[in-house]
Amino acid sequence: MRDVENLMGKAKASLAVNDPPYNVVVGNANTHNLSKIDLPSYLDFSKKWVAATLNVLASNAHFYVWMGADYRDNFQPLPDFMILMREFTTLKARNFITIRNQRGFGTQKNWMWVRQELLHYTKGNPNFRVVYTDIPKILRGYYKEVNGRITENLERSKSEMIRPGNVWVDIQQVFYRMEENVPGCYAQKPLKAIQRIIESSSNDGDFVLDLFAHSGTTLIAAEQLGRTAYTADIDPIFAEVTIRRLERYRKTGKTGWQWQNPFPEIDQIF
Ligand SMILES: C[S@@+](CC[C@H](N)C(=O)[O-])C[C@H]1O[C@@H](n2cnc3c(N)ncnc32)[C@H](O)[C@@H]1O
Repeated sequence: MRDVENLMGKAKASLAVNDPPYNVVVGNANTHNLSKIDLPSYLDFSKKWVAATLNVLASNAHFYVWMGADYRDNFQPLPDFMILMREFTTLKARNFITIRNQRGFGTQKNWMWVRQELLHYTKGNPNFRVVYTDIPKILRGYYKEVNGRITENLERSKSEMIRPGNVWVDIQQVFYRMEENVPGCYAQKPLKAIQRIIESSSNDGDFVLDLFAHSGTTLIAAEQLGRTAYTADIDPIFAEVTIRRLERYRKTGKTGWQWQNPFPEIDQIF
C-alpha cells in the first residue's frame, strides 16, 4: 500500500491496467517472481494489490486486470479472483473480455488453449469511448426504421469498421519477428491491446497505473497516447527493461528490440 502511495505521490489514476502473475508455472520460466504459490496465499497477494490500487484511484476510474485459468489445477485462479473482487464494493463489474491468441498450447488430446482473459470494472461513472478495430464491416442486414425509412446497419453506423466487442480476435500476439518484441519477456502483452484499453477508458493527460510492468507495454502505450503512466516491477531486471524500452522509444521511435538483446553489455542473459 505504502509503495504504491509513494509511486503515485499526489496523483490519482483514472485508469489501472494490472497484469499480475497468474499463479501458473510459465513454461520453464518458474522464476522467483512468477512462481506458483498456494491459492489462499495468491488471493491474499491479490487482495493487497487490488486494495493498494483502489487507494490511489480517482473517483471516476476504470480498473482492468488480466487473469488466467489453469485447467490443470481446476481453473484457478480466475474464478477465485472474480469472487474475491466482490469484496471490493466500490468497483462495479463491467465486462469479461477474452483475447484470442494465434499460438496456443495443448496436446493432441485437448482443445488448444488460445485465450487470455481481461476483467473490466469501474469506479464511479468514468467516460467510455467507443473504439473500432481495423476489420471492415461486411455484413448487411439488421434493418430498422429510422424517421419512417427502412435503413440497414451499414447506413446507420458511425464507422466502416467493426467494434471490438468483448472477444478480441484481431490482436497479434507478440513474437520475435515483431518490432515490439522484448526478448526475455515471456508474458509481454501486445501494444495494440493496451492501446485499445487506454483509448477507450482514459482521456488525454490522464494518469494510468500498472503495478506489474514486466516489458513496460503499458508505459509505452501511455507515452504514445499522451497519458502519464506510473509503473513498477518487483524484479529489478524487468524494471530496468521497462526503463530502457521507454528510453529507446524516445530516442529511436522503436517500440522494442525485436530479436536483439536489450542488455547488449551482457552477451547472453536470457
Ligand atoms: C504477467 S507479467 C506482466 C506483463 C506486462 N503486462 C507486459 O506486457 O509486459 C507480471 C510481472 O509482475 C511482476 N511481479 C510479480 N510480483 C510482483 C509484485 N508483488 N509487485 C510488482 N511486480 C510483481 C513480475 O516480475 C512480472 O514481470
